[in-house]
Order: sequence, then structure tokens, then C-alpha cells
Amino acid sequence: MSPTKPGSAAAGATRDTLTIVDNRTGRQYEIPVKNDTIRALDLRQIKVNEADFGMMSYDPAFTNTASCMSKVGFIDGDKGILRYRGYPIEELAEKSSYLETAYLILYGELPTKSQLADWSSNITHHTFIHESIKKFLDGFHYDAHPMGMLISTVAALSTFYPDAKDIFNPDSRRKQTYRLIGKMPTLAAFAYRHSLGMPYVYPDNDLSYSGNFLNMLFRTTELQYRPNPTLERALDILFILHADHEQNCSSTAMRGVGSSQVDPYSATAAATAALYGPLHGGANEQVLRMLLEIGSVNEVPAYVKKVKAGEKLLMGFGHRVYKNYDPRARIVKRIAYEVFDVMGRNPLIDIALECERIALEDDYFVTRRLYPNVDFYTGLIYQAMGFPVTMFPVLFAIPRTSGWIAQWEEMLLDSEQKIARPRQVYIGYDQRSYIPLEHRS
Ligand code: ACO
Repeated sequence: MSPTKPGSAAAGATRDTLTIVDNRTGRQYEIPVKNDTIRALDLRQIKVNEADFGMMSYDPAFTNTASCMSKVGFIDGDKGILRYRGYPIEELAEKSSYLETAYLILYGELPTKSQLADWSSNITHHTFIHESIKKFLDGFHYDAHPMGMLISTVAALSTFYPDAKDIFNPDSRRKQTYRLIGKMPTLAAFAYRHSLGMPYVYPDNDLSYSGNFLNMLFRTTELQYRPNPTLERALDILFILHADHEQNCSSTAMRGVGSSQVDPYSATAAATAALYGPLHGGANEQVLRMLLEIGSVNEVPAYVKKVKAGEKLLMGFGHRVYKNYDPRARIVKRIAYEVFDVMGRNPLIDIALECERIALEDDYFVTRRLYPNVDFYTGLIYQAMGFPVTMFPVLFAIPRTSGWIAQWEEMLLDSEQKIARPRQVYIGYDQRSYIPLEHRS
């Protein structure tokens, strides 16, 4: 390949390629560009000599590396857009139900009437859990974090369903999908009841997905639990908003662990563990703790000062992808008021609103493009509905299960995917000889 001067006629010709000049050798390479992306493996031909391993790209935390091709979800972080399979999140939140959205996310199209009826019936008929799972739950300490219980019991499901190992069998995958989406609320609700020392409430298959979840959480002596329709719908919308968010930390865990061809329960346990962290799904819990720590509207400026000094994070603000208002946060803020109309106003909302007001005007947040994310207002809703803060990440994990399974299945069926195995840039010692203990200083 002959070198081309930048700005020359040849350089001006448009082609879907990237020309790289290696100034170490003077060699030039032309690399195909597809979907505004180059293949990292195309860099490997760039070598100083034949013994050279070849060029790699270094991208800690994958901030600019696409690890897959996906048709599930689309985010435009600059414009604040989120779509599932092409459908805007705002429309789904207004018109769809969680189970319908889960079907869309998994199978790519909105279901027909009969498909939706079958799908809902199949999920509903997989809501019960094996009685032995209750024994695991009983083994947890009374104040065990429900996320820890959820992670452990989802993993335990793999021991009850060894057929789940048959991951390349579509019938088996479909069955595990029903079981996972059906049983996650039951595991979550049982974990919650265990923490209260209250008897477990079995699923009521006459109720909706979110209505049944409320039943398993809150039913006491009623012969038949009737969820408040506003709360039931609010929870269902929150489930829709949390169903998928493309290649986030937990989906990446699902894909990465699933790429070893382990069963989907074990992979879902890994994804749930990833979601537990305070920088991911655990952030909604941290937002509530932060608002309680701030304590009053008057204390907000002092707290923001600490954030700007790097002593604290403003939890529920910032996002790796959204550099504009998170579209989910806007919907959540509206739902918050609907829930407050039923349950009473959560006094922490005033502190949250003041945090948002100051942050949206302050140079520190404006220049870093830090806006409220989905977690900023969800905690206030959950608290108003009567959930303890430890349940907040659990409320995220339940709906995200459909997204995780869709991502997992897409990965399994993608012929380009293999076991996930990143490279490293080794910067440690070169070879050295073992030093006997008596010679070490
Ligand atoms: N409060 C204060 N400063 C912040 C915040 C925040 N919440 N988020 C980012 N920043 C600052 C960083 O300190 C950094 O400043 P610098 O350039 O002076 O060093 C700058 O903004 C860029 O931030 P990064 O940490 O590089 O952004 P990254 O994309 O790695 O992090 C993350 C994204 C993890 C979400 C981050 O914004 C954060 O920690 N937010 C708080 C936790 C949170 O709400 N997580 C929920 C995310 S949504 C979800 O998972 C569902």
C-alpha cells in the first residue's frame, strides 16, 4: 500500500474505510468501516515485525467498545432517546403492559391477542416455586439483604431445573424464560416476607403480573387481595421502564457469564449480582439514603458543595450513556405524583426537587452533562408504596430479567459470539527467578 498525504485527491475520495498510518514503520493500512465501527481484530495486522503480536485497542470499562450487534434496545444518549425493538419508551409506558413489553423485548414484535394470552398464561403458570426454596430462604438471617437472597435463590433454581443446561434447544429456552420471568417476583416477595418474619403468600394467578406481586408482598388477612389500581399500574409502568437498557453492567454480566454456556439461572444470578452494586441498580437505594442524609431542603446547598469537592456523589445523577435527561426519569417523576395522590406525599420529594433544581443550573453538573437518571425518583415512589430501601434494587431486578434473557438469547444465537475473553496489556514484571525465603528482605 502506498502512503497517501492527508488532503490529497486520493484522501478526499470517500470510501467506507479508515486509513491508518503506523508512524513506527511508515506502513499504511486501510480498514473497513461498517456501522461507523471498525473491527478490533483488523488492528492485529498492524505489526512492527513478524514476531509482534499485533495492535490491540485499550478500553478500560468498555467506554468505546461495542461487544455485540443487537436488535433489542436502542439508546441515543445525547438526544435522551430509549426504544425497545424500535418502540419509544414513552409510548410503551403509556399504552403497554409489562408482560406485553417483555414479549416484545424477547421476540422482537408486539404479540397478537392470542399470543399475549398464551404468553401471560404461561408466565402465570410458572409463578410457584419449589417448596424446598422456602427452606433456603428460612436459612437467611432475619436482616439479610433481599438482593443477596434473590441472587442466591435464582442461582439455586438451576439445581431444580437441570433441563436448563440444554441451552441450544429453543423449547428448553422458552420454558426457562417462563420460569424466570414467572418466579422472580415470587422469590423477591418471599425474601421480603422473610425479612418481616411474615408467612409467605402464594401467587394468585387471577391477578396481573404486578398485581400478583403486590399480593405476595402485602397481603395479610384478606380472603382475596385487591391491589389498588393506581399502584398496580404505577408498578407495571416502572417494570416497563426497567425492562431493558442494552449493554449495561448487568446485561454485560449476563452475556459474559452466559457465553461460557452455563444455564440461564446461573447467568441471571450473575446479572442480578451486577445489578446489586451502588453504581448500577443499587443506586435507587443509595438515592434514598442520600436524601435522608441531607435531611432538609436547606441542607441541599451544603451537600452539593461536598459533591463538587469530590467528597460525595449525587446519587441518581449521571449516566454512562445519557448525556441529556434520562427519558425514563421524566416518566418516573410523573408517576411519583400519581402514587403520592394515593399514598400521601413523600416529604423527601422536596429535597430531591431542590437537588435537581440546583444541579441543573450549576456549572459543575452542566459541564459534565449530569442529569437525573431513572433511579433518582424511583426510590421515592417505592418508599411511598411501603417498600423498605433494601427492596429497591430487587424491584429493578424483576423486570430487568426479560431484558437479560433477550440479551442472553441474542448472544447464544449470534454465530460471531464466543466465550467472552478480553485481552490485557501486561505491565507487570518480566520473568524473574524465585527468591528463597531466607534471602528476602
Ligand atoms: N455526582 C457527582 N459527580 C459525578 C456524578 C455524580 N452522580 N457522576 C459523575 N460525576 C462526575 C465524575 O466525578 C467525573 O468528574 P471529573 O470529570 O471531574 O472526574 C465526571 O462526572 C464524569 O463521570 P464518570 O464517573 O467518568 O462517568 P461514568 O460514565 O464512568 O459513570 C455513573 C456513570 C457510574 C452512572 C456515574 O455518573 C455515577 O456514579 N452516578 C451515581 C450513581 C448512579 O446514579 N448510578 C445509576 C446509574 S443508572 C442505572 O444503572 C440504572
